[in-house]
Formats: sequence, C-alpha cells, structure tokens
Amino acid sequence: MRIDVLTLFPDFIRQCTQVGVVGRAFERGLMSVEAWNPRDYATDNYRRVDDRPFGGGPGMVMLPEPLTACLQAARAADPAPARVIYLSPQGPALTQRKARELAACERLILVCGRYEGVDERFIDREVDEELSIGDYVLSGGELAAAVVIDAVGRLQEGALNDADSASQDSFEDGLLDCPHYTRSESLGTEGVPPVLLSGDHAAIRRWRRQQSLGRTWLRRPELLAQLELDAADRKLLAAFQSEWAESDQPGPDVEKP
Ligand code: ADE
Repeated sequence: MRIDVLTLFPDFIRQCTQVGVVGRAFERGLMSVEAWNPRDYATDNYRRVDDRPFGGGPGMVMLPEPLTACLQAARAADPAPARVIYLSPQGPALTQRKARELAACERLILVCGRYEGVDERFIDREVDEELSIGDYVLSGGELAAAVVIDAVGRLQEGALNDADSASQDSFEDGLLDCPHYTRSESLGTEGVPPVLLSGDHAAIRRWRRQQSLGRTWLRRPELLAQLELDAADRKLLAAFQSEWAESDQPGPDVEKP
C-alpha cells in the first residue's frame, strides 16, 4: 500500500511514520508513505499557500492552486489510482470498520488542511471523501493523518508480529477489549481474576468475552445497541449485569438494571 500526504509539515509526517508498527510495515516493504508540501507548488514570490476568506472573518484559507498542483504531482508519482481523503472535522468519524476499508486500498492520498481549512472548490473537484478523527478541532490535519496511517498501517498483512492480534483488537467485533494482566514482581497475582490462572482455556475465552460485553455495556452502551447478540452472548452479559447490580461498584453512564 502507498500513502501520499499533502502537508505543510512534511517532516512531521515523515517522523511519525518511522516509528512503531508503521515504521516496521515500511521496513518490511508493506507500505510506503510520501509527504508532499503544497508550498513547493506555490507560484508567487512569497510561496503563499493561503489567503483571507471571501466575505471576511478570522483566519486564512488554503489556496486551491498550490494544493491542486501538489496533488497532481503526487498522483503522477505512481500509476495506481488513489482515493483522495481530506482530513477535516466536517467528515464522518473514523471507525475500525473504516480503517479496514481503507487498509484494503492500494493507494491513498491524505490532504492536511491548516488555518481555517481549504478552499471548498478544491474539495469539490479533487477530494473523494472527508474524514474526521473525532468531534474536536485540531490546528491542522497532520495529527489526524498520522492517526489514519497508524490505524491502516497496522492492518497491513504482516505488519503485526502476532497474526491474531489485529483480529482480537477492540472494535473488531464491535465490542471493547477485555482487561489484560501480566506478571508483576511487586503485585504478584493479587487482583488477577483467578480464571486467568486456571489453565482452563474455554473458561478463559468465556470470561474474556463476558468482560468485553460487560465493559461495552458499562462504558459504550451505544455500541452494544448496534449489535445483535446471540443467545450465548446474551447469557454472558446477563450474568455480568446481575453481578454488577449486586456489587457496590461506581455507576457507569447507564442506570443499574
Ligand atoms: N483537522 C482539524 N480537526 C480535525 C479532526 N477532528 N479530524 C480530522 N481532521 C481535522
């Protein structure tokens, strides 16, 4: 997979794609990331990439011409057709499902805005979709692009060392992840659910599934509402809920059943 990023801060994108899983995916030849600076395609003496908005108001708007020329150069660098995504709070929010969809693309071009955003005509003419990483405003699209690159990069076949770890992630089945424990010099096994030390793999699987269901119910009930649970899951969740109702644990956002 190839990802091109249009950004006024190419070094930022280069640096954050050198580390961690994405860096490894790059080293393993599974994906490449190229950064392109629209300023290199500005034609005036000041290499301007922005101007005041028509109609007045605060902030600056990115000029369409340097962005368009930069995009053309990025497109021309590879014959593979690219999906052009503009990172913006106006787009639908990135989800794990969306990350999977994008991870299957041969080529993406991510456009990072700065200032008040980019001229809408550039979006109308060149952008296939807008994508947000959440309902808050960043000062530019670079961090959002880095998030997309990470979420998509770790899904490339061979990027993760343990073949199973992507499929067991939070959200892969619409649920939050279960809690995890490991050896601790200072804590020993105190506070570790005994089932995890039992060696009973079926019981461990059941417990993990129940924790995923229960945590999703407690913390993100709107996710649970989108799923059709089978009878086994409903039973696990009901047991979790009645145990929780009897406990003194602090209340979640939902009312005790
Ligand atoms: N640019 C600024 N804020 C953003 C957000 N929330 N998501 C994606 N791109 C952005």
